[in-house]
Amino acid sequence: MSTLQRIPPRHWLYLGLLSFLSGCTDTVVRDREPFNPPPDATNNFLGYFTAEEKQTTCGNCHVLHQRDWATTAHANAYAVLASSGNDAPECYTCHTVSDKGNAVAPAAGWDRVQDPAYHDVQCESCHGPGLDHVTEPDAPQSASNPPLARVGVLGPAGASDSASVAQSCAACHNQNSGPGVRAYEEWAASGHAKSLQEEDGTFVNDVSPTCGSCHEGRAALAAWGVTSDYVERGQPGSENYLGQTCAVCHDPHGTALDPATGEPIAHQLRYPISTPDINQNLCMKCHQRRSEPDQTSSRGPHSPQGPMLLGDAGYKPAGFDPDIQAVATTHGSERNPELCAGCHVNRLEGTDVATGQPAVSAGHLFLAIPCLDAGGLPDLANPDGCAHDVPSRSWAACTASGCHGDATTAVSAFTLSEQRLNQLTAQVWNDLNANDIVEAAPTDGGYLSDFVNVPPTEYVTNDGRITAAEGALFNVRMLKDGGADGSHGVHNPFLAEALLRANIDELRATYPGLPQASPAVQDIMKGPLGAVTKRPLSRPLIARPTAAR
Ligand code: HEC
Ligand code: HEC
Ligand code: HEC
Ligand code: HEC
Ligand code: HEC
Ligand code: HEC
Ligand code: HEC
Ligand code: HEC
Repeated sequence: MSTLQRIPPRHWLYLGLLSFLSGCTDTVVRDREPFNPPPDATNNFLGYFTAEEKQTTCGNCHVLHQRDWATTAHANAYAVLASSGNDAPECYTCHTVSDKGNAVAPAAGWDRVQDPAYHDVQCESCHGPGLDHVTEPDAPQSASNPPLARVGVLGPAGASDSASVAQSCAACHNQNSGPGVRAYEEWAASGHAKSLQEEDGTFVNDVSPTCGSCHEGRAALAAWGVTSDYVERGQPGSENYLGQTCAVCHDPHGTALDPATGEPIAHQLRYPISTPDINQNLCMKCHQRRSEPDQTSSRGPHSPQGPMLLGDAGYKPAGFDPDIQAVATTHGSERNPELCAGCHVNRLEGTDVATGQPAVSAGHLFLAIPCLDAGGLPDLANPDGCAHDVPSRSWAACTASGCHGDATTAVSAFTLSEQRLNQLTAQVWNDLNANDIVEAAPTDGGYLSDFVNVPPTEYVTNDGRITAAEGALFNVRMLKDGGADGSHGVHNPFLAEALLRANIDELRATYPGLPQASPAVQDIMKGPLGAVTKRPLSRPLIARPTAAR
């Protein structure tokens, strides 16, 4: 949807009105061009048309982008710096229109001419200089006309590192920013930055909707209805594949409104993070590929985190009837209002190990309990490969809610819950050689390994019916250590346990001759659901629309 409207600036309207009164309704009267001469005449950044009103030159024509952008923090970037009390000349380059964020070489814009027209992070910070375009807006498209922005985090693939970093969000949102927020560095070390390759070397990040709508940035935007033009659009070749970049989650113009409030969504996000509507929640839009067995496909669970959190995932054995209050409200309740982001995107203050200066984590590794470095910040070199204990990781996500006391309490809840889950999954199927194939004992263990060699098998029927064994296998693939959910049960400890307990009951009822469960598992199954006592919730259950799968 184009937001371009050819509405002239206010003084033209007066002239237009005068001509209307004099009867000349069809005459567009222009007293002047809709831009001022660029203060930096070398690089042609136009900046503000009227600085006091924060009226950008681009916004003279693109009025809706002007309206939306004016509500963002970018439109306030100069004042925030100037009033901070510790501004210095070198600070201004990221808080003004300069070469930062676009393909222009330094020094440009504010860095060349300190004119108020260049205050704040304006359109041209991301789009590049606009003189050619405003001089001839209807001219055929070329590299600079109109000036296109990047949805990538960096410049073109293959550019030298410094040239590359200078060309998009990363130019400003890096550890050298005023508060030392490491948004770029963390994102670059996160799973969202990866061009995912399968074991055979093919890319998952194809640009077709089948996989790309979640795995490739441009395809995700297309799936979400972003039809506008930008630099990387349509560039072929796997070297141009984008992951989930800043501009996938963040709306560069701050246009999206929260349907619940009608207000712009905080932090310029494209979708809200607080809604339990699985098709509207930013994270769940992608993290919900396959959370129940599909009768037409033998594929296992695939990013089931959304439905898992909301209490709706898994193969439900016959008669499955868990404690719905526990299953539907724990970590997906109003006690954790930001849901996925409440645990996975958190600011953390610490010290930069290299410089000894204060630095801030933007939580953009997207890890709930990241490993910490010596400065108390998420460890960019080893974000997720450390022990699950107090000194190794941050447990702030668990303690901030006030539900889990201190970090030590959180660790013991995590450990206990993980142990119980591992015992339950091992009873159903213990993939001892971790190859994700069910094999007979002693290669594997658990019930499923007992009947892989028993023909005719009830195990895989291929008749479109999900057997008790297939259902159990699906749930274990989802919940085991290294399984598709990946949370060691944390996303929904009560649902995880309820599913596996019901699987064990159903397997024994369906396939006579299976031995009793191990004493440890019997103990778990006799006791209440979950390792941690459920707290009575004072708030109502979240109303959950069923996912469109
Ligand atoms: C004088 C009016 C005017 C001004 C000022 C103006 N534009 Fe445009 N812009 C247009 C018109 C008209 C088009 C449509 C051109 C076309 O369709 O070929 C356009 C198209 C664009 C597009 C491409 C949209 C698309 O989806 O293909 C971008 C990006 C853009 N402008 C950015 C800017 C920026 C950045 C500025 C400020 C430097 C700016 N414009 C200033 C009139 C203007
Ligand atoms: C933080 C970087 C950033 C800023 C600031 C920014 N843009 Fe954009 N703009 C982008 C990106 C990235 C895209 C392509 C993705 C999208 O449309 O969401 C885009 C797309 C556009 C388009 C083409 C799509 C359309 O909807 O017509 C126009 C026109 C445009 N911007 C104009 C502006 C104007 C005018 C301003 C200032 C009022 C502005 N932009 C500020 C990054 C930015
Ligand atoms: C020219 C430097 C620059 C560029 C380029 C830039 N930003 Fe920013 N951004 C800033 C500054 C400075 C602030 C803080 C402004 C303030 O606090 O008033 C900021 C703030 C933000 C915020 C905080 C919003 C909030 O409400 O908390 C988001 C989100 C953001 N930028 C996203 C982006 C994205 C996405 C891009 C790339 C498409 C981008 N920025 C490009 C400098 C930049
Ligand atoms: C490399 C680019 C860059 C430079 C240089 C830079 N900043 Fe910033 N600044 C940013 C960005 C990006 C943000 C937004 C950070 C965020 O919200 O995550 C920001 C935000 C801020 C804020 C708002 C903080 C808040 O918590 O709302 C202040 C104040 C600030 N900067 C001051 C400074 C000062 C003082 C300097 C010089 C010592 C400086 N900046 C230099 C990019 C920069
Ligand atoms: C509805 C969104 C969605 C679609 C469509 C989708 N995926 Fe995924 N996929 C995800 C998410 C989210 C993850 C990461 C979460 C996780 O690891 O549990 C993921 C993870 C993966 C992984 C595992 C990555 C790892 O780190 O182990 C592979 C392999 C994969 N997808 C392949 C595919 C293929 C092939 C397709 C197309 C046939 C596809 N995906 C379609 C959302 C999707
Ligand atoms: C997977 C989605 C996603 C991606 C990708 C992403 N962000 Fe964010 N970002 C978020 C969410 C969610 C928040 C809000 C966190 C909250 O409120 O709890 C946020 C917050 C922010 C903020 C405000 C932080 C603060 O605490 O003031 C800035 C600035 C920001 N992001 C910049 C970026 C930049 C720059 C990139 C790319 C390097 C990026 N983001 C990539 C989801 C994302
Ligand atoms: C556009 C789709 C999309 C959105 C939106 C999205 N993700 Fe992801 N996420 C993915 C894919 C795809 C992967 C697998 C990454 C890969 O390709 O290896 C992933 C991976 C992850 C991982 C594993 C990271 C790692 O380092 O292994 C976490 C955790 C995660 N996402 C959390 C979130 C959270 C929290 C949000 C919301 C703030 C979110 N995601 C939004 C698609 C998405
Ligand atoms: C109560 C806090 C909490 C909530 C809410 C939460 N997660 Fe998690 N998540 C975790 C924890 C803890 C882990 C396990 C991390 C570990 O073992 O290193 C995890 C693991 C993951 C992983 C696997 C990461 C990896 O390292 O492979 C993904 C992907 C993920 N979560 C996505 C999501 C999404 C998407 C949502 C929302 C639907 C969500 N999470 C909600 C706490 C949470």
